[in-house]
Amino acid sequence: MAMKLNTRYLKSFVNEHELKAIEPQVLAAHRTLTEKSGLGNDYLGWTTLPKDYDREEFSRIKAAARKIQSDTDLLLVIGIGGSYLGARAALELLRSPYYNNLKKDTPDIYFVGNSISPDYLNTVLALCEGRRVSVNIISKSGTTTEPALAFRVFRELLEQRYGKEEARGRIYATTDKARGTLKELSDREGYETFVIPDDVGGRYSVLTAVGLLPMAVAGIDIDAVMGGAAAAMDDLAVGDLCKNDCYKYAAYRNILYRKGKQIELLVSYEPAFTMMNEWFKQLFGESEGKDQKGLFPASVVFSTDLHSMGQFIQEGSRCMFETVVDIQNSTKDFFVKDDPENLDGLNFLSNQNMSVVNHKAMQGTILAHTEGGVPNMVLEVPGINEHEFGYMVYFFEKACAISGYLLAVNPFNQPGVESYKKNMFALLGKPGYEDQRAELEAKLG
Ligand code: PA5
Repeated sequence: MAMKLNTRYLKSFVNEHELKAIEPQVLAAHRTLTEKSGLGNDYLGWTTLPKDYDREEFSRIKAAARKIQSDTDLLLVIGIGGSYLGARAALELLRSPYYNNLKKDTPDIYFVGNSISPDYLNTVLALCEGRRVSVNIISKSGTTTEPALAFRVFRELLEQRYGKEEARGRIYATTDKARGTLKELSDREGYETFVIPDDVGGRYSVLTAVGLLPMAVAGIDIDAVMGGAAAAMDDLAVGDLCKNDCYKYAAYRNILYRKGKQIELLVSYEPAFTMMNEWFKQLFGESEGKDQKGLFPASVVFSTDLHSMGQFIQEGSRCMFETVVDIQNSTKDFFVKDDPENLDGLNFLSNQNMSVVNHKAMQGTILAHTEGGVPNMVLEVPGINEHEFGYMVYFFEKACAISGYLLAVNPFNQPGVESYKKNMFALLGKPGYEDQRAELEAKLG
């Protein structure tokens, strides 16, 4: 069974004729994508990646993962944005948010280079004490400041600890096949390298070595991940709105946006989904938020956040809709025990499966929020496993591309990300930014 979109709770918010009205635009977006005739059409490698990937490199990824598993206690994955979020989402969803605390025969994995916090860096440096360390540096451009800074720190740590020769065998670089500082450095130093294809942008790269190497190190079955994505590629190829849930999802979110909903809240009832939420937010935020347009992607994990954001969602500004990811089968059952004394009054749940309690919380919340004026749609995911993860990744990537084309923006660039960088470089005195520095300092007083 595959992931499905359930729109029954949208009935009082979206009329059938609205879906009919948007159909030609969705089909036009479908053609634009399949004919590769739209904005950003040189970044469509992800559309065929699940089937059309470099098999030789895929084997090298598995071999590198086996080596890391055999000679490493702690793997540092250095990267930011699309070069970080997908791998961490997979690790937390498919292994555990507490992966590093589990008893396991695979290395701990820590993510660095996704902030510039000295406290965070010092904490991870301390964790490396007395442990066998390897590094996977991931950067498509090879020049992003955050990962480059972290790599400088951990490369030095490895070289001091193991000497240049052994350090070389503990560093794996995932980057552009020919360009960039990281590629040059890797070639000069002789690191094993993996390629982020030219036509796959950062946030669409989780099914390349960017995501696959850390996943394989964590013991995740990357063949099954690719299998799930390939199934989605087949299922979601059809240019028919009635038969394509991915297109339907893109259509409904666009209709809701046009009706004044500014925020899409991705909702899950699994704490392990938290980093998937982050991956989703980056995918949609960087892809759609352009030309003063776009839905603001936000997320919550229920029932946790029902006790923080629940009040606002129920009764606050009516600015949002919810997309609920309903994971229909938990990996392991947990039954509530009977307590003869029933002092807590919970015996009405005796012998009940906790997943049923979670599911009822979801149903109750959907009904309450819908009643409160928040449109809800539900993405039904059969369970948590590698296949479903791969399927979900492809589903959201394609929905995001179609959504971008419906908004007439380029879903594959991120020009706005440069603004903060320019200011930061100028304020730090990077050569070439002298004029801006004076101007910015004057503004800062
Ligand atoms: O989606 C994107 O392209 C970005 O989020 C990048 O992944 C991010 O900025 C990191 O870039 P790089 O891999 O070049 O270091």
